[in-house]
Amino acid sequence: MKKTVLITGGAGFIGLNLVDYILKKKNYKIIVLDNLSSGNSGLLKKKVEDNGLIFNKKFSPDKDFSFVKADIRDKNLDNIFEKTDYIVHLAAQTGVIPSIEDPFKDAETNIMGTLNLLNLSVKHNIKKFIFSSSAAPLGEQIPPLDERKIPSPLSPYGASKLAAEGYCKAFYGSFGLETVVFRFSNVYGIFSYHKGSVIAEFYKRIIRRKPIYVYGDGNQTRDFIFAEDLAEIIVRAFEKDNIGGEIYQLGTGVETSVNQLISYIKEIVNYNFEIEYKPERKGEIRRNFASIEKAKKILGFNPKYDLKKGLKLTYNWFLENIDKS
Ligand SMILES: NC(=O)c1ccc[n+]([C@@H]2O[C@H](COP(=O)([O-])OP(=O)(O)OC[C@H]3O[C@@H](n4cnc5c(N)ncnc54)[C@H](O)[C@@H]3O)[C@@H](O)[C@H]2O)c1
Repeated sequence: MKKTVLITGGAGFIGLNLVDYILKKKNYKIIVLDNLSSGNSGLLKKKVEDNGLIFNKKFSPDKDFSFVKADIRDKNLDNIFEKTDYIVHLAAQTGVIPSIEDPFKDAETNIMGTLNLLNLSVKHNIKKFIFSSSAAPLGEQIPPLDERKIPSPLSPYGASKLAAEGYCKAFYGSFGLETVVFRFSNVYGIFSYHKGSVIAEFYKRIIRRKPIYVYGDGNQTRDFIFAEDLAEIIVRAFEKDNIGGEIYQLGTGVETSVNQLISYIKEIVNYNFEIEYKPERKGEIRRNFASIEKAKKILGFNPKYDLKKGLKLTYNWFLENIDKS
């Protein structure tokens, strides 16, 4: 019998990539739970229908795909959880600035929402619970970032993700729930039109023939991971036994400066866009990249997309979708 994956935040950027990957390459029933606060149900519906499935707008356990418009803090999700095998928890308040403006709202979603899902998962014997964290719990560190660094968050977002990581670990320790925490580095890829991340912002402005903004001298570095590579490792993690209670840093291990990124983009877009250098933003981390040795060794993580290849695919998607998203 087909196993069922519940994806919270499945109408968002990484969620859409995960749904796309599972529909193309795997054979699971999918339930997406999303309150559509930033997600896009139109893109999700199109993806599902392009794969020959019906976009059921309410939970139907016998159907291959269901979309449930609900909040992760909702306590009445038992009917869904009792039919679910694996959970990939992506739904979140994802912004650093909004978390500073309203730390309580951030905590309600990222801490209480996650706790609610963990609690339901124990009640319904969920086989694996994958939690999407970020580098934010670690704060300012000397790179490469690995799982042994002592967390020191700089924002309420980093603090709420750290608290949720703690609950994942605690639910493994106290109830035996197989929780896996993935700390994503900077993610880019298709379906990222609504994101304010650097690559999405650059592409939106370049396509509209506007100058791009670089804050600081452009020598700050990041580790850019293509969303499809994350989708692959997420599925691999819920298919693998006895990996619960662990944190994995996920990126490519490659350090790229914003100026290098711009030079790659120049080769792809075939247009001499203007660059405006602006004062450095307060709190911006100078160097940032991950060590992915643990994920490689234990999960066989092996990102397939180098930055140039991923940037090209992402640009083509932006060109096709810029007015449709
Ligand atoms: N994109 C990145 O570079 C990045 C990096 C590190 C970690 N992450 C984490 O990965 C996850 C997915 O991020 P994303 O970039 O796809 O973000 P996104 O904003 O595109 O997707 C988040 C989804 O969650 C939904 N959502 C938000 N609050 C909800 C709630 N209370 N109940 C139900 N649904 C809710 C939104 O509607 C949206 O569809 C997040 O947990 C984020 O913190 C992302």
